[in-house]
Amino acid sequence: MTTAIANPAEALLFETSVEGRRCLRLPELDVPKVDIKQALKGAKLRAKPANLPEVGELDLVRHFKNLAQKNFSVDRNFYPLGSCTMKYNPKINVTLLAQPGFTRAHPHLPEADLQGHIELMYNLEGYLREVSGLPAITLQPAAGAQGEMTGLMVIKAYFEEKGEGKVRTEIVIPDSAHGTNPATAALAGFKTVTLKGKPDGSVDLELLKSLVGPQTAGMMITNPSTLGLLEPNMVEIARILHGVGAQLYMDGANMNAIQGIVRPGDYGVDVMHYNLHKTYSVPHGAGGPGAGPIAVAAHLEPYLPVPRPVKHDDGTFSLDYKRKKSIGKVRSFFGNYGALVMAYIYMSQLGREGVRRNAENAVLNANYLRVKLRNEFKVFTDRICAHEVVFTDAIQAKQNDIHALDVAKRLIDYNIHPMTIYFPQANVTNGEGAMMVEPTETESKQTLDFFIDVMKKIAQETKENPTLLKEAPHNMPVVRLDEVRASTQPQLYCPMCMA
Ligand SMILES: Cc1ncc(COP(=O)(O)O)c(C=O)c1O
Repeated sequence: MTTAIANPAEALLFETSVEGRRCLRLPELDVPKVDIKQALKGAKLRAKPANLPEVGELDLVRHFKNLAQKNFSVDRNFYPLGSCTMKYNPKINVTLLAQPGFTRAHPHLPEADLQGHIELMYNLEGYLREVSGLPAITLQPAAGAQGEMTGLMVIKAYFEEKGEGKVRTEIVIPDSAHGTNPATAALAGFKTVTLKGKPDGSVDLELLKSLVGPQTAGMMITNPSTLGLLEPNMVEIARILHGVGAQLYMDGANMNAIQGIVRPGDYGVDVMHYNLHKTYSVPHGAGGPGAGPIAVAAHLEPYLPVPRPVKHDDGTFSLDYKRKKSIGKVRSFFGNYGALVMAYIYMSQLGREGVRRNAENAVLNANYLRVKLRNEFKVFTDRICAHEVVFTDAIQAKQNDIHALDVAKRLIDYNIHPMTIYFPQANVTNGEGAMMVEPTETESKQTLDFFIDVMKKIAQETKENPTLLKEAPHNMPVVRLDEVRASTQPQLYCPMCMA
């Protein structure tokens, strides 16, 4: 709450400015004075000094420290946006990445001086191969969406070589796919065919059979889906696709839920991408930086981008650029190298057991919230979920016209970052406002219980004092903006940053 007595540390610098006040006073001039106008004759100089606030150093420090404290961050607050935007990034990742061996390395160094770096990439590929169950990896793509693009370019190159490039023009995409999937397919020059999901969010196999044929290049499936649900029929889906000669692409950005437990390659996936920045803790948000490596089946390996790290019999490493069928480069140098290093550190620390344990805990945490909150908030598909759970505002909308946006804004008052809202979109959730909660594996039971208590309180407030929600947040420097349209015309966005 704002206090009635104004605290100068909270004011704008212009409001506390006093003429003549300084942070630093320079010593008396001990060199000849220069007339600047004379010295820079002919130059365009401003007529008057800039109008800058004049404050003391302590006031300046307090002002900026106060501003910094107003930021939400995963280091200070619970972030149910989860891995999608801000999974906790262990400090050791950054500490090690800051070592001069990494910060001073230049990609143009001769190969002999890059040995350690190539070895790191080679080993990271090994980890990712093991998790995917697929034999070949490229680390080049700098984001999940670029991984999708690379995967589809690889599929295209494969069909072109088979002489089917002109025929296989369609990509089938379930409506529970991540939004980047149809966008990527369109950008890669394919026609997208939407596959309406069954009411429980899974793929309708009969409908899929009716949509695929010789024109199908592949299917892009997000598994677990954006509804936070595991697709139960992956083996059958792969069989249907392969039956018509098409490829199965899996958006593996949600590997957080299945890594170390089940391998996409084993259930028939031909290509998949990882979001290292989601699963392996590289901090991202607002678009980067990240890394979206792809893993492919053996028949697609020849088309992977260059360079590929290679290990020789004598234990040395090199970068292979001479691959005739490669689609070429998709990113400068070796990809988003810093992100690769952090993912490598993270995976090395976890080991095989740790990777699996992370998935188990991510799934356990999401299901704990699902079960504890299912009486207060409608769970869109109330079955065991993966790493995230989608609630909707159906109960609150009926009770007192309270919507996902209002719940999200009220969370801010309790120092919790809002969850993702209105995603999946209304066409998937039958018009109900989605509230997607992904706690991730790093949150303790105490924090989850705190979130549960707050959500229950908000459910109570909905019944007793809906205005409290309609006008939230109350204790932030910026209160509710003009978002009436957003609440009546649901769309995907983050209620904190409006992105
Ligand atoms: C399931 C899924 N697929 C694809 C993407 C796109 O990844 P990026 O934002 O790195 O391009 C995301 C983003 O988080 C995602 O959650």
